Amino acid sequence: MTITGTQDEDRSNYTKEESRAIRQRSLRLLGSLIHPLRLRIVIAAIVLVVSTALQVAGPILIGIGLDRALPVLLEESDWMPAFMITAIFLIAGISASALIGIYVVLAARITQAVLLDLRKRIFLHTQRLSLEFHESYTSGRIISRQTSDLDSIRELLDGGLNNLVSGVLFGLFTFIALVIADWQAGAILALAGVPLVLLMRWFYRRSQLVYRESRVISAKVIVQFVETMTGIRAVKSFRKEPRNDETFRKIAGDYRDVNRRSMVLFGTFEPGLMAVAALTLALVVLWGGIRVSEGVLGVGVLLSTVLYVRNFFAPMQEIAMFLNSYQSATAALEKVSGVLEEQPTVPDPERPVDLWESRGAIRFDEVTFGYNGEKTILPNFTLDIPAGQTIALVGTTGAGKSTLAKLVSRFYDPTKGRVTLDGVDLRMLHPKDLRRAIVMVTQEAYLFSGTVADNIALGKPDATLDEIRAAARAVGADEFISSLPDGYNTDVNKRGGRVSAGQRQLISFARAFLADPAVLILDEATASLDIPSERLIQDALQTLLADRTAIIIAHRLSTVAIADRVLVMEHGRIIEDDSPDALIGGTGKFAQLHAAWQQTLV
Ligand SMILES: Nc1ncnc2c1ncn2[C@@H]1O[C@H](COP(=O)(O)OP(=O)(O)OP(=O)(O)O)[C@@H](O)[C@H]1O
Ligand SMILES: [Mg+2]
Repeated sequence: MTITGTQDEDRSNYTKEESRAIRQRSLRLLGSLIHPLRLRIVIAAIVLVVSTALQVAGPILIGIGLDRALPVLLEESDWMPAFMITAIFLIAGISASALIGIYVVLAARITQAVLLDLRKRIFLHTQRLSLEFHESYTSGRIISRQTSDLDSIRELLDGGLNNLVSGVLFGLFTFIALVIADWQAGAILALAGVPLVLLMRWFYRRSQLVYRESRVISAKVIVQFVETMTGIRAVKSFRKEPRNDETFRKIAGDYRDVNRRSMVLFGTFEPGLMAVAALTLALVVLWGGIRVSEGVLGVGVLLSTVLYVRNFFAPMQEIAMFLNSYQSATAALEKVSGVLEEQPTVPDPERPVDLWESRGAIRFDEVTFGYNGEKTILPNFTLDIPAGQTIALVGTTGAGKSTLAKLVSRFYDPTKGRVTLDGVDLRMLHPKDLRRAIVMVTQEAYLFSGTVADNIALGKPDATLDEIRAAARAVGADEFISSLPDGYNTDVNKRGGRVSAGQRQLISFARAFLADPAVLILDEATASLDIPSERLIQDALQTLLADRTAIIIAHRLSTVAIADRVLVMEHGRIIEDDSPDALIGGTGKFAQLHAAWQQTLV
């Protein structure tokens, strides 16, 4: 893994078309997320509109109370109007708060539904994508998609979007109510809109720059952290700590700087906003006061306008905050939608060919292959492996042996030509059929969390414990498994369940034998075993491989003894192809290798 980051997060220099395509991609994703929730969204919106209208009614009721009900009370001792106004005020206030409560719950449900959907989609999709994607997209980046990106989207939906919608609605209703109460105060507020918009735009632009930078750096922090920790063994054995310390210190320092700059931005924006608000309020009070003294405006109306103007500015800061969460969320959405629209390079067939019983005949039909379509590894490669044959594949490091194995397993598709199983192109097989027919065991035997039995049963999920034991016994793993603290039920991640590399290989062997495939590929699968264990496996292999096709890749030539046929590979070509005895007796490359190997044994 390297910090390549050539895709999304490190790029800010997209062309116009690319930017548009990315925006459309995000919108498509958003649309598909919202679509199933549209009814709930409409209901939440109605609740919000009604509650906001009720909230905004407050100041105008106070004004009416002061200007109309109070004089009646003072002059005629009639309590009725004052009582009515107070009752209406109370009812409006209580209903507004009750509705807000409902709205908060509704909005939270919508948010959680969206997040659940998105979280599942990211997981299912990244798991479905082909190896090629996972080789170029570092795990650190996938982790950020699942964690920090989802967090930004949650922040937006939870706080930001709510604040924006309710803030804008509140501002709009307040403005309308102000114009109704006193259009001249409304005009003053409209004028104040000019500096307000300028200020908000300045803040938006600046914070956009700062936030973009912050995103790039925070991604780097995560990547650096994940790479160091996943590669901790290599880090320690090569004493890479000081260099990592240095790099991390620098990245973390950059992150602090950029966050500091965003705080400075807020430090300028907030006082600016307060100044605009104070100025507007002063003008409204001044102009209203003059009119009150001239007797053309009621004191109550003046009070309502003052309350409205003050209320108008209250949500502005939240709206500005929204702009920030909006930016990180759109960026997150862009990245997530990028992953979600990534297509598997090894796609499942639309109409798979049924493969009832696979015999295990493999054929390479003029296959040309290079990773990512780059340098050709296998040039025009043709090879026939009849069903039931055991092949030993040997050759120099980098010759293309593992590549060949990965093509048979269909981890990749050939650039040209085709690989067939029983005459059917692998691309036409249902993944279920393919995985049942072809199993590959590699050097890196991975154990999942769970018990040893679970790990063996991976090859056949409905296997009984007896079957599991039989498989383990067949590969000579039974003995060591039985000596584990809980035998087959030992948790491989718990103390005492930790197994050695060779033992891991034995477990993955048992897994493969339990799966009972028609084609078994062993790529350096015995490399971590000692000579006696390997001998044991080879004895087992001889019986177990009798009725299946096998491709055994091994550097230790002892493996060759059990093969029907040996292929010697160099630079992506088969240079020798014969029975082991014929090759050993001959004068070719294999004979030389074999002679050299025999010498090391003496
Ligand atoms: N994932 C990959 N992406 C790009 N190139 C790759 C990838 N894996 C292997 N290669 C290239 O393909 C060539 C063949 O590699 P391959 O792993 O098939 O060799 P091999 O014969 O299995 O060698 P070894 O004996 O060391 O296992 C190498 O030159 C290597 O650089
Ligand atoms: Mg290899």
